[in-house]
Amino acid sequence: MRKGTRDRSLKPLIRAAKKEDLDALLNLEEICFKEERFFRKQLKYLLLRARSIVLVAEDGGVIGSILILLRENIHNARIYSLNVHPAHRRQGIASLLMDKTIGLLKEKGVTKITLEVGVNNKPAQNLYATKGFVVDKKLFNYYKNGDDALHLFRKL
Ligand SMILES: CC(C)(COP(=O)(O)OP(=O)(O)OC[C@H]1O[C@@H](n2cnc3c(N)ncnc32)[C@H](O)[C@@H]1OP(=O)(O)O)[C@@H](O)C(=O)NCCC(=O)NCCS
Repeated sequence: MRKGTRDRSLKPLIRAAKKEDLDALLNLEEICFKEERFFRKQLKYLLLRARSIVLVAEDGGVIGSILILLRENIHNARIYSLNVHPAHRRQGIASLLMDKTIGLLKEKGVTKITLEVGVNNKPAQNLYATKGFVVDKKLFNYYKNGDDALHLFRKL
């Protein structure tokens, strides 16, 4: 096996984030996103107070995370953020985070998941396609840098 690749049979632990994970989550945000990222206060709110679910992938440290917002209307949920540390990409970790999320949301009675993804973010678009998400509209000038996004959904 090449250095930096992992045996996909050795799965990281996927668990609910705790308040002690805040620094690690912040660090991951800083590494994975340049402009569109959360700051400490926002992340703390999302982790501790919002109607949200935050999961982390742990393998000797936090190497991936997913943040889901639950709607007032409990039947809809929105994937708000997903990232995997660059050193651990292409090893199935985002896929595990998505599978766990979909399972949890089904248990909660959620019937529709939505998300937004950059038009140029092919890795994420491919990932979401493998998880059954379909595009329903384009969101023009969605990001701070002026990039457009695609709005995707999946029925559960
Ligand atoms: C998008 C991201 C979360 C994928 O994480 P990952 O752990 O590397 O993804 P996985 O290994 O689980 O890949 C699952 C599938 O997604 C697709 N995919 C993932 N990375 C890809 C890439 N670089 N190029 C093409 N397809 C890719 C593939 O279909 C892949 O399946 P395969 O490996 O069997 O071909 C990761 O690249 C990332 O953190 N990017 C920066 C943050 C970001 O863009 N988040 C999404 C915001 S909407």
